[in-house]
Amino acid sequence: MSDDGGRLDRLTAMLRRRGVILPAFEIHGGVAGLYDFGPIGGKLRRNVKNIWLQHWAKHGDIVEIDSPTLTPEPVLIASGHVGEFNDYMSECKSCNSVFRSDHLLSDHHPNPDVLPPEELNSLLIKMGVTCPGCNQNDWLDARPMNLMFETKIGAMRGGRTAYMRPETAQGMFMLFPALYRHFRNRLPFGAVQTGKGYRNEISPRQGMIRLREFNMAELEYFIDPEVVPSHDFSKWNSMPFNLIPDPDTSSPVSMSIRDASEKGIIRHPTVAWFMGWTWDFLVAVGIDPNRIRFRQHEGTEMAHYASDCWDAEIEGSYGWIECVGIAHRGCYDLGAHENSTGNSSLKAWRPFQEPKSVDKTILAGNGAVIGPAFREKANAVNAALAELSNTNQEYPFQLTLDDGSEVTIEENMIEMKRVVATEHGEWFLPHVVEPAFGIDRIIWHILDHCYIETEKSGESYTLMQLPEFIAPVNVAILPLMEKDGLVEVADLLHRQICSISDVSSYYDGSGSIGRRYARADEVGVPWAITIDHQTLEDSTVTIRRRDDGLQMRIEMDLLQSKLATGSISELF
Ligand code: ATP
Ligand code: GLY
Repeated sequence: MSDDGGRLDRLTAMLRRRGVILPAFEIHGGVAGLYDFGPIGGKLRRNVKNIWLQHWAKHGDIVEIDSPTLTPEPVLIASGHVGEFNDYMSECKSCNSVFRSDHLLSDHHPNPDVLPPEELNSLLIKMGVTCPGCNQNDWLDARPMNLMFETKIGAMRGGRTAYMRPETAQGMFMLFPALYRHFRNRLPFGAVQTGKGYRNEISPRQGMIRLREFNMAELEYFIDPEVVPSHDFSKWNSMPFNLIPDPDTSSPVSMSIRDASEKGIIRHPTVAWFMGWTWDFLVAVGIDPNRIRFRQHEGTEMAHYASDCWDAEIEGSYGWIECVGIAHRGCYDLGAHENSTGNSSLKAWRPFQEPKSVDKTILAGNGAVIGPAFREKANAVNAALAELSNTNQEYPFQLTLDDGSEVTIEENMIEMKRVVATEHGEWFLPHVVEPAFGIDRIIWHILDHCYIETEKSGESYTLMQLPEFIAPVNVAILPLMEKDGLVEVADLLHRQICSISDVSSYYDGSGSIGRRYARADEVGVPWAITIDHQTLEDSTVTIRRRDDGLQMRIEMDLLQSKLATGSISELF
């Protein structure tokens, strides 16, 4: 941990005191891993999310969706989360406290996350790791614990098992058919979703880093695995990235992502491309570019669905922390949902360059039954049957027609036929590249990197140097004194500014003007506006810049129009 001289404690205390982020349900004793975003933090989170959404929307082939957080069990059995979304935990025999086994070993192994349970057990003993609760070195064997919160949909014994979603991604996979139709059946395209994810972390710690309910922002980008992508890497060409590849394949390197992709260190160009965009986002929201690195997962560390994964790690007061995971999920999820439901609508169509003649067996509709059963839909049913690649169906089965509707097919409705068919293309399962962002960890690091401790007139002074466009409060309105009609003018200006779209202001009338500047600087308000007696005469106010205290006088109308157009910094 790189905390110096209590800085982390002072930062945490300030965030709590000023209503940025603070432990939830505190008057009832609180719960580890649950946090509130207060009046300042709530707006900061919204700004970061909005910038994230805009960062992807501008690509033109990425849309936003929103799906339920409550997820029925079959979805998460198919996705592998019920069986495999586990962490190993070690229980102290002496005091029964439970900890993540890999966390207990973090000082004794470079990456304990990759270790199998037998090695976790032997290393705990060999290294003499003692229980943080009671100091004994007497552990039960490490056991897997599923991280999902289980619940029921419906009442009493009729209730169906469900889970609070551990990732937003499954919502995007469920919506693949709707997305495919939306994009007129053309890959590549992507969907983003922001929202809560839930994980019953064994030992939440490190403030905002390990939460049990947290803010995720995920992008699923669907691609054809047979098409070589032509991403434009030029904007990052002269920018070396700090890369820590899987130690089995290469040592840490500093190189452009294009070179890393061409050399096969990053295994897929689309993963490399998203690493570039991830970098851009992190730097834009205020992360120090010198404290970002990308670390590739080792084979045994990878999530059950991934074939390559790079974490964007950020260095802060808790050391290097994963904040974004960029995974190549292949066709794992769409394939798993197809297998478990028999639903064939999770595929995409790949046209051939030239039509092909193939000798094949198809399921043909038995006209005598299909016609009367489906009437005007009979042709659509015949067409959908002919497209089925799996002729070994269990009857009855559900068939999805071209218009998205479903019909039930009974065994007497079909005949097996051998035909020579001309095929113009084929159905395949798209592959997925997923950048998954943890918004809370990113917000923590923005605050950590932007928090400046300095001195003013011999006293300690703190400043939050947030980029202007994510600052939760844009201006502080400060009447020089709360009398002589200054309050009325200040209050009116405050409300006028709050009514400008996407601009926020807060009113502060208490204490000396110096104290009020300090309070505004502490939470990163870029502009402080002072209303004084001259304001009553000529409608001008003093505007002060947070980062250097520079001041000038401007008219209130000009102030408002500059705020509305986001161009206030041009004044200086
Ligand atoms: P870790 O190894 O730290 O537990 P992870 O590999 O399980 O993280 P992912 O499953 O890749 O994380 O989740 C995507 C992102 O969600 C992470 O990069 C991180 O920013 C965030 N995240 C994951 N777990 C938590 C948590 N418990 N609290 C806050 N953010 C989290
Ligand atoms: N969707 C990425 C993860 O939750 O691991």
